[in-house]
Amino acid sequence: MTNQPSPNAQFVPFNGYHQTQQGEPDWELAKVGAGTVCGEYLRRYWHPIFLTGELGDKPKLIRILGEQLVLFRDRSRRIGLVHKKCPHRRASLEFGRIEARGIRCCYHGWLFDIHGAILEIPGEPADSPSAKKIMQTERLGAYPVHEYHGLIFAYTGPPEEQPPFPIYDTFKLPDMVMTPYAVSFNCNWIQVLDAIVDPVHTAFLHQGQFSDGLGELGEIQFYERQKNRIIGTAARRVGDNIWVRVNELILPNFTQSGAAFAVDGTVEKYFGRSAFTRWMVPIDDEHCIAFSWGNFGERADPLEFNTPEELQRIEQGEPINRSYRQKQQSPGDIEAVEGIGAISDHQKEHLLSGDRGIMLYRRRIWRLCRDLAAGKPPPQPTDLAPNVIPTYGSDTVLKIPQPDGNDCPALLKQINDQVMDIFFQADTLEGADRDRFVFEQLSQI
Ligand code: FES
Ligand SMILES: [Fe+2]
Repeated sequence: MTNQPSPNAQFVPFNGYHQTQQGEPDWELAKVGAGTVCGEYLRRYWHPIFLTGELGDKPKLIRILGEQLVLFRDRSRRIGLVHKKCPHRRASLEFGRIEARGIRCCYHGWLFDIHGAILEIPGEPADSPSAKKIMQTERLGAYPVHEYHGLIFAYTGPPEEQPPFPIYDTFKLPDMVMTPYAVSFNCNWIQVLDAIVDPVHTAFLHQGQFSDGLGELGEIQFYERQKNRIIGTAARRVGDNIWVRVNELILPNFTQSGAAFAVDGTVEKYFGRSAFTRWMVPIDDEHCIAFSWGNFGERADPLEFNTPEELQRIEQGEPINRSYRQKQQSPGDIEAVEGIGAISDHQKEHLLSGDRGIMLYRRRIWRLCRDLAAGKPPPQPTDLAPNVIPTYGSDTVLKIPQPDGNDCPALLKQINDQVMDIFFQADTLEGADRDRFVFEQLSQI
């Protein structure tokens, strides 16, 4: 007997034969190289690309947005980020010699500074007109970098459109220890980014990996702000308290949430801040790296969690290098997202209400990419506040007893709205003034 196509395939048992077709990825979002729709959009922002602590006295060959680049610190302590291939005869500058004025190609000794200027061509006579002309007219491709708190950021877009380096409020929290880390994923950046606005996965995949209360789904809401912010909140009842956790995505790839271990909803807390301040950076279409600071202190997770293993758990629920058996027993984000494959076949997804945050942000990126293609520059995080940019990733636990412990969804939703309203109202304030306003308002809910 042969398998016959069924007119109503979904009700046929053992229907594998009819469902074997591979779906197409959403190529517009998935492709990050130069000249691609999303690649061009991503190139309008600063991205972290390396840990300062890992940049020694030799050049590093790295990839970012599909481009092979060489990162180095010259002997004058300036950091350079340049194209991999030497403009002479294309040798790789990863084998270059670091000098006071820049990097010297290993092959014939051309010397370049961090801006890409050709400073010396030693194989030619000093008065060679053609060498002089090349030094005047040619450059090695180079990009600006900015070192901050142990992370090296780069901007690889058009120089005339370079945005200001964004300073978010969580960069400046008093008494916070910020520990830089990087975790690599062997898959497309979109499928890793998805998780920040996917509260259902927190309750399911991470059950038992973080604080107990996160296993509860709670009442979920999404908010859109300023064309580039998607915020997901979950309000949960814990005894006499209601715990509001806020996850946020500032497009294209900046993410924060609440604490990983310190908050379980049992103790009152106002505006506790994120365990991580993190960017999901595409390396190429099939690889990405989460560059981040783990945040430790009274407002986030306790200092005893500031270890390499706990940083990995903050990033993905479990340590990274585990046996296959351990991974099967307690999978983390890496297992979930790499298991999808190098690039998800988005066409075969079935998105439901819990995936609303994902639909919102993907749609938003599509729109911004298309706007950019039509000549309209995308919004920058600094549009909201030029100095210190307010963010919302947080935990708030409010004492709101309910005699029978049963909340109607409407009450939890209302608390979500009230908390977010307070945060939004405080957008024009900074630092201690903002905290004071937020604390005072929260205490009145
Ligand atoms: S290839 Fe670099 S100097 Fe010749
Ligand atoms: Fe996760």
